[in-house]
Amino acid sequence: MAANHSNAHNGALRGPELLARVATDFLGLETRYPLASGGDSRRVYLDSTAPTLMMGTAHRAMEALLGHYANTHSLLHNSAKLATQNYAWAHERVLSFVGADPDRYTAFFAGSGATAGMNRLARVFRDLRPGRDTALVSIMEHHSNDLPHRKHLGRVLHLPAEEGIGSINLEALEQLLVQERGRVNYVAVTGVSNVTGIINPIHDIARLAHAHDALVLVDGAQMVAHVPVQMSGRADPAEDIDALVFSGHKTYVPGSPGVVIALKEQLRQIDPVEVGGGMVARVLTDHYSVTSKFPDREEAGTPNIPGAIGLATSLEVLDRIGMDFLFAEEEKLLSYALEQMLAVPGVVIYGDTDIERCPRVASISFNIEAVHHSLVAAILNDYHNIAVRNECFCAHPYVIEMMPEETAEFVALSDEAVENLTSPKPGMVRASFGLYNTVDDVDRFTAALRDISANSAGYTPLYRIGGSDHEYLHTSFEAAPESLFNIPGMLDSLLANSG
Ligand SMILES: Cc1ncc(COP(=O)(O)O)c(C=O)c1O
Repeated sequence: MAANHSNAHNGALRGPELLARVATDFLGLETRYPLASGGDSRRVYLDSTAPTLMMGTAHRAMEALLGHYANTHSLLHNSAKLATQNYAWAHERVLSFVGADPDRYTAFFAGSGATAGMNRLARVFRDLRPGRDTALVSIMEHHSNDLPHRKHLGRVLHLPAEEGIGSINLEALEQLLVQERGRVNYVAVTGVSNVTGIINPIHDIARLAHAHDALVLVDGAQMVAHVPVQMSGRADPAEDIDALVFSGHKTYVPGSPGVVIALKEQLRQIDPVEVGGGMVARVLTDHYSVTSKFPDREEAGTPNIPGAIGLATSLEVLDRIGMDFLFAEEEKLLSYALEQMLAVPGVVIYGDTDIERCPRVASISFNIEAVHHSLVAAILNDYHNIAVRNECFCAHPYVIEMMPEETAEFVALSDEAVENLTSPKPGMVRASFGLYNTVDDVDRFTAALRDISANSAGYTPLYRIGGSDHEYLHTSFEAAPESLFNIPGMLDSLLANSG
């Protein structure tokens, strides 16, 4: 029934009509929570940079697959054949979505997000290019695109951001490439910042890196769901991207795997980093041979088949909507949000807000002057039912660079003092958007910011600092998580539907 629903309604829809239909078909858009002021309201979800909500069509595709579920790597029983074929389609879908030539690139699934892929590629490039021990990493990176290079490759040099703008500084990149020539293994940059939403010029970066014999690795975690990507086939082949990773759970399919797209020619030259079942041609007690087939060679163990197929379904839907069109639509909503936020007294937005000069998408990080970020996020949740994220978003160096004065004390602390801190850490609030967010969501959000900006003195005494993270907690109101959603408590009703 689920699969028919999708076919019957979506048919051959594309572009704006399909977007209109898909945008209202996500799980969780109607979720309601109680408010500190009494009653309840619909949650406005502005935390898509962390994970996006689940696309209904992808969810139904996963459910439909489960009716045929079996492991891959067998072509003898029907379910195994179906699983194998659909799983192969998922890989093809990924390659075509990111514009990667299937003759040259392979796509493989790894772990539960971009982090697994980043760790894998850091080890791949280390083994591929021994002696080149340095990665150039922008200061904008999520820790996932920084720490794996420190740990597996060894030496990381950080590129500064353009002062007052927040985007990558290409002159500094070129200088480092010249200065470190022969040692730079690769340049690792994010396609889109998870803090400011600033879009990096990844093809200019690739051209520079390749001219200095460095590879380029793009963190596409915040990019692929929002910005069209073309890894290969550029007019200037030096602009092609060597490798890209992204997270399925940020691409509208929670529970789907991390994705790596890399050059077969490079992977072929080294032993796969991970070994186990499914990636070997033969195993004897004293010897094993690794299959030459891609992506099998890179996918040891039983894969997350439903997740991969759900993700491929989401990518198919995004492609049918059209990524150029979707990007333009999201840019309009982001511009509107920026304009409305800038009109709120005391709001400070990080990164250049002129999107003509500095393109950005999906995320806006901000503070309200003299109101702690943790208090802002708590009031947004408790009084307005708006879900945002706060603090440093796993991008400490970038946040520190964007607000040096406010973070100076924190930076000066010892590791031990940070561990034992009993006051809230410095940081920002981040509102982030998915294709399901509307002008109405932005209006509710900016009305809430106006309320906080005008009434922070009234809110402050209602809060205390507490909890394991030393955040702002309401003194008398708590919508306890177990009262809102609790599987053991729901089990009887879940079981009641089992017969
Ligand atoms: C830009 C960026 N890169 C990497 C990651 C890590 O992704 P994951 O947690 O899915 O492994 C994130 C997560 O927020 C991110 O925003």
